[in-house]
Amino acid sequence: MKRVITYGTFDLLHYGHINLLRRARALGDYLIVALSTDEFNKNCKSKACYFSYEERRQLLESIRYVDLVIPEESWEQKARDVKEYHVDTFVMGDDWKGKFDFLRDYCEVVYLPRTPEISTSKMKQEIGRRD
Ligand code: CTP
Repeated sequence: MKRVITYGTFDLLHYGHINLLRRARALGDYLIVALSTDEFNKNCKSKACYFSYEERRQLLESIRYVDLVIPEESWEQKARDVKEYHVDTFVMGDDWKGKFDFLRDYCEVVYLPRTPEISTSKMKQEIGRRD
């Protein structure tokens, strides 16, 4: 069984996220999503989420492409996760291109093209302008 892992915040889940998850799952047979916790978002990514970790986790768990959700609590955990979960392929959108090449010592690393013209930040800005 080929195992794939990806990382992210996935707040205000949108079709760009779904496209990423679908293509990531298609690279293997089992997709793990390491979901940024609220603390990690706030302290390390400077992101304030609309949905809580539990809400974001429930949404991801209800998607057919996602087999397992684990917490992302630090930048450093990736190599450990790859070993612990016997991951074959690490996947991120290409906004992260090159950033995780060091994981090639442990697994295949793939950067998928982002879906154009949609992001959580853009949605927040545009919805804010409508009010
Ligand atoms: N992603 C994508 N296409 C998009 C938006 C996101 O492929 N249009 C991918 C990212 O590259 C990442 C994953 O989805 O691998 C999770 O991205 P995340 O940062 O949670 O979503 P964004 O919409 O980019 O959020 P933000 O605007 O807060 O950065």
